[in-house]
Amino acid sequence: MCGIVGYIGDREATPILVEGLKTLEYRGYDSAGVAIYNDKIDLVKTKGRLKDLVKTLGDSNMKGTMGIGHTRWATHGEPSYLNAHPHMNSDVDIALVHNGIIENYIELREELIEKGYKFVSETDTETIVHLITESEKTTDTFLDAILAAASRIDGSYALGVISHKNPDEIIAVRKESPLVIGIGEGENFIASDIPALLKHTRNVYFLEDNEIAILRKESVKLLDMDKNEVKKEIFRVTWDMDAAEKAGFNHFMLKEIHEQPRVMRDVLAQRIDETSTEIKLDQLKIDKELLKRVNKVYLVACGTASYAAEVGKELLQKVARIPAVMETASEFRYKDPIIDENTLMIVVSQSGETADTLAALRMAKKSGAYVIAAVNVVGSTMAREADDVLYLCAGPEIAVASTKAYSAQLVAMYLISIKIGRLLGKINDTEFIELRDALLKLPTQIEKILAREEEIKMLAYKHLDMKNIFYIGRGLDYAASLEGALKIKEIAYLHAESYPAGELKHGPIALIENGSVLMGILGQEYLMEKTISNIKEVKARGAEVIAIALEGNEKVKKIADDVIYVPATHWMLTTLLVNIPQQLFAYYIACGLGHDVDKPRNLAKSVTVE
Ligand code: AGP
Repeated sequence: MCGIVGYIGDREATPILVEGLKTLEYRGYDSAGVAIYNDKIDLVKTKGRLKDLVKTLGDSNMKGTMGIGHTRWATHGEPSYLNAHPHMNSDVDIALVHNGIIENYIELREELIEKGYKFVSETDTETIVHLITESEKTTDTFLDAILAAASRIDGSYALGVISHKNPDEIIAVRKESPLVIGIGEGENFIASDIPALLKHTRNVYFLEDNEIAILRKESVKLLDMDKNEVKKEIFRVTWDMDAAEKAGFNHFMLKEIHEQPRVMRDVLAQRIDETSTEIKLDQLKIDKELLKRVNKVYLVACGTASYAAEVGKELLQKVARIPAVMETASEFRYKDPIIDENTLMIVVSQSGETADTLAALRMAKKSGAYVIAAVNVVGSTMAREADDVLYLCAGPEIAVASTKAYSAQLVAMYLISIKIGRLLGKINDTEFIELRDALLKLPTQIEKILAREEEIKMLAYKHLDMKNIFYIGRGLDYAASLEGALKIKEIAYLHAESYPAGELKHGPIALIENGSVLMGILGQEYLMEKTISNIKEVKARGAEVIAIALEGNEKVKKIADDVIYVPATHWMLTTLLVNIPQQLFAYYIACGLGHDVDKPRNLAKSVTVE
């Protein structure tokens, strides 16, 4: 949700900020802007994408070696020039970029209007810039004014602030929105995420909640809200910028789909030894003692990650025999959940920053639960705040629609449930070896599915005129069908709905008519006959059926109009394989309809607001 960048050094700030914003566009892309200090603060912003900002900047000739920039995902007020960041005060001497939501902005805005402040935008952010100006009247330093303003704000924020009266510093503050400080030589940076820094430095500080960074050309000082100095280790980023480039693919999404065999190989090589009867999850501290007291597992996540969590829930129950529930994070904390020291929570997240998931994690920790975070982004807030972390190791995922991170989340669910199952003695050596060998085959099996890309593309093109699509499955296939339907909604903008196959006749079947399209998922052999019966019911009512089934399933051929086969595997793992054709199907439908696959409308990659 919104990307922010800042630069202070000896180089021209504008191109550095624009380059940084390009890598953060996945966080929001409805308007953008930069503010540069050069004796005074110059501001250029525009509605639209970064390329529109670049065009506008083309004529502006902004010079200066300190500045801040922003790419926006609108929360308060439509995408427009006035609502775009940076925001400035009426004296035009303070500029500010913000990621997050100010919850009490209406009260603050009214108070400031009464004091004579003029608002030009509908944003919550503008409140902060006027609040700082007001605080300057009663404080000695610019830092104090920012701290005084921050103390009045409820909500979440990552802020980058510059002032004409404080020309040698960028001040950054963080509360519940990610912020990384890049440490260079004679120059320093702020950014919402690491890719914006990688061209310049690999040395970073992750700012924690209620911490402030004061960036000068030669130094970075970290403080808490009482201005006590905070000492922390520099984190060295090891992954490469190449991972965040398209590498010849038309879209990041397609590149990331094709990266899955490699990602699986890397992850499995780290976790599984082909001759061992144990999973190598050394970094996970959970042990038998801890599990003895666990009487319930909550798996909490949002969107795609919640469908991986759904798989995790089912496996923990089936394989490890622990009562487990999956909760959508945005609902969880308002349900008054029963959490205590006997609760294990597993949060699943690509970004590790999703606001609702993070709130659930914090709630669980407060109530004494033990929290494992299965996250992709190294050093993210969830990774830092959980008791235990299992990194997904999927590499940077840039496309808004998650693909490789979802597969890596599934693998994390497999590994955690196998580990817990082993610790509790519910998986014997023979069962483990069967699972281990099946896991190790996944990368080659994914390659086999990707080799059918052309076939899936043709199938997608055949259905470009569909108005909606139903997805059905049972058990783990239902979890997969949820993800299949979400992909279609996100990038093809078509109405796609997923149902447990047996639920169709309790209502939704009334929607089926001649020409309706239905995707039936048939990865779970033991439920196959039942799902086939449900497919027959919709066929009888005129639906056109595409099935995703395991190789060797001849029965489905006689019923479905088209079948996409995936290699057969252990029942626990089919959910990963049946999803690969779903990803390609959604991708080619979206391409065929001419949509911007990597930056779908209204979405942002990292949802750091509630
Ligand atoms: C996935 O395609 C979506 N863009 C979205 O549902 C995403 O999975 C969700 O917002 C959760 O994000 P996270 O994994 O970063 O927590």
